[in-house]
Amino acid sequence: MKPIEYFENRIINYDCLKVIPHIPNGSIDLIVTDPPYSLGYEFANDKLSYEKQKEFMDCYCKEFYRVLKPNGTVVIFMSQEMSHYLYFVLKQLTFVWQNEIVWNRDGGQMPTKKLGVCHEMIMIWTKGEQHKTFNLDDIRVQSKYAETDKRLNPKGKNPGDVWYVPALFGKKIERITENGKAIHPTQKPKEIIYPLVSAYSVLNDIVLDPFIGLGTTAIVCKNLGRKYIGIEKDKKYVDVALSLLSEVN
Ligand SMILES: C[S@@+](CC[C@H](N)C(=O)[O-])C[C@H]1O[C@@H](n2cnc3c(N)ncnc32)[C@H](O)[C@@H]1O
Repeated sequence: MKPIEYFENRIINYDCLKVIPHIPNGSIDLIVTDPPYSLGYEFANDKLSYEKQKEFMDCYCKEFYRVLKPNGTVVIFMSQEMSHYLYFVLKQLTFVWQNEIVWNRDGGQMPTKKLGVCHEMIMIWTKGEQHKTFNLDDIRVQSKYAETDKRLNPKGKNPGDVWYVPALFGKKIERITENGKAIHPTQKPKEIIYPLVSAYSVLNDIVLDPFIGLGTTAIVCKNLGRKYIGIEKDKKYVDVALSLLSEVN
């Protein structure tokens, strides 16, 4: 075990299952992470069998429980099918279910013989009965009826659990590319991470993302004045993440 300061504001290039065991018990305020979920991409652990996937989830979720502070929140992106597996893994560890955001991210290429898959799940659980932090005012959205219904909260309404944020398909400017090709196949838009970090943490809180890819969670944390701990197995992604982070003041 190492003191928490050792990990703060670092992106560690290693296997998270070997790094997290060195993070002290009850030291993390919030986990926001987008693990591999067997979509078959070329990065580590994205082609696991269902059995191996479950073992993998068991391992990282167990550690998530240990490192979170009491009533800390864990936010995990997951595919529709795998979210059912993950539900039972988290439940068994005595995490408490809070919400499941249906992230409408639009579709990329659409199938012709069935409906297109346009949403992913974002599962939100706590270590304890309720969130340690929930900054509703920081994530309110404008109501459709704001103009006509004066009874509504002028600060906006609770955003609910269906969020529309287009993914970085195609040539979106935020997508990091090399010779016209995306460097990371599943880079997440910062727009979907901002409200999650804003809602469930306060200034100087410590946010862990052990599958950080190009550093999206860390960039958001740095912009919002949160401390981050990022872990990523692939050096190519870590190098890009560090370079992007160096551009944030
Ligand atoms: C779905 S991607 C995360 C993308 C990230 N949200 C972004 O915006 O760039 C999952 C990442 O986990 C990494 N990974 C897989 N297994 C890992 C492990 N055991 N330890 C650390 N990183 C791992 C992969 O290399 C991949 O970059």
